[in-house]
Amino acid sequence: MAVDKLVEEYIRAHPGSQKLHERAVKVFAANGATHGTRILDPFRPYITHAKGSRKRDVDGNEYIDYVMSHGALILGHCQPTVVRAVQEQVAKGTHYGENHELEIEWAELIKSMMPAMERVEFFACGQEANMMAIRLARAFTGRRKVLRFVENFHGWADEVVLSTLGVVADEVKVIPMHDLERLEEELTKKEYAILILEGGGAHMGGQIPWDADFVRALPGLTQEYGTVWLIDEVVTGFRDSPGGWQATIGVTPDLTTLGKCVGGGLGVGALGGRADILDMLRPKAPPQQFVYHSGTWNGNPLLCSAGIAACKLYLNGEPQKRANQLGAYLRKRGNQALKERGINGRLYGRSIVHLYLGPIDYEPSNDTLPPTKDVSKLMAGTPTKTRLCLHLLQRGVATMGARMFILSAAHTEEDIDQTIKTFGDSLDAMIAEGTLNQAT
Ligand SMILES: Cc1ncc(COP(=O)(O)O)c(C=O)c1O
Repeated sequence: MAVDKLVEEYIRAHPGSQKLHERAVKVFAANGATHGTRILDPFRPYITHAKGSRKRDVDGNEYIDYVMSHGALILGHCQPTVVRAVQEQVAKGTHYGENHELEIEWAELIKSMMPAMERVEFFACGQEANMMAIRLARAFTGRRKVLRFVENFHGWADEVVLSTLGVVADEVKVIPMHDLERLEEELTKKEYAILILEGGGAHMGGQIPWDADFVRALPGLTQEYGTVWLIDEVVTGFRDSPGGWQATIGVTPDLTTLGKCVGGGLGVGALGGRADILDMLRPKAPPQQFVYHSGTWNGNPLLCSAGIAACKLYLNGEPQKRANQLGAYLRKRGNQALKERGINGRLYGRSIVHLYLGPIDYEPSNDTLPPTKDVSKLMAGTPTKTRLCLHLLQRGVATMGARMFILSAAHTEEDIDQTIKTFGDSLDAMIAEGTLNQAT
């Protein structure tokens, strides 16, 4: 087998990470990684610390970070107000196993940003919030079935997992995005407890974006056929705006789930929405409808302290505006870099910028949208992007598989200028080594 120069150079620049990777594969089954997106051949760097838009690895390499804790850090790493709040709280106790005022303050803050949240519940992570939404919808409607859209990601539990493995198939139906006729055909069966979709579109805020008009048709339909409608805003909640993605397109679902950003960098899930649905959690709910909510880490004071500090900063919409502006700048400069090299592809998205490599089918009305409506094309090109990801890492830019660049308000124009130089150098290197076709 031919020697891979890039892999050789990468290993040479990351000896400490290589040693840790060798230990990790003996304890973690998934090629040494603790999350599917952290698997990379030969390995992703092992990080020691992070601040603002940057993180450093055990070998002293610095990265401009576009992973941003899988999208949870719109304020950047170690935002000083959040750090202070957590430091103060940790000394007062991480968990009382009792009620406390911080959980109320946090829920009130969330409610003030999303008034449709008549009730709020906390969980350990976003997926748990989705699972509770499904359970509550089942109790509320007396139906079992779950209706979902293809490629929309909601976690790894049976009812929400993307691949068919593990899906409770007879209770979960997955239909194409944007097929209103097909959706109505399913809803008219009056079998579905809940309809779920990802805020913004499938994959991290919209690798496959939603057509807002399609989504605006959903409240009428779900209401007519008695199905609870959930928008999963685990990624977009408070990232897109203080009111989430739903506020940007002017819809109000029955239920909303949150995660990531709402916790200010600590593990979190939240569910909110119509009081009559969440009231299934009341001990006095009819016994056949009563839903019990456990979860050791729900609303623990440490998390609440981080969540409150972060949510207070989200209230005026400034961090979201800044991250979106930086996303626009990255798209503009990155698209110039692609064009200059004659590479068919585009960067699109909002504060999470997605990379599309492939033919341009049409010109979208603005650069937040991809230049093709063909979902299979949007989802293609993973090996090329994985290669690009390694090139970028070797040059000091950390992305989620080069599929997306996740911005925060802590990034700067200088970060982006440096990233574009690195992006261009990586593309040139790939053209030279024959791993990237210019006119695909
Ligand atoms: C849209 C969406 N929903 C739910 C989840 C699951 O959240 P968590 O990983 O906090 O369980 C994710 C995770 O990336 C997500 O992107």
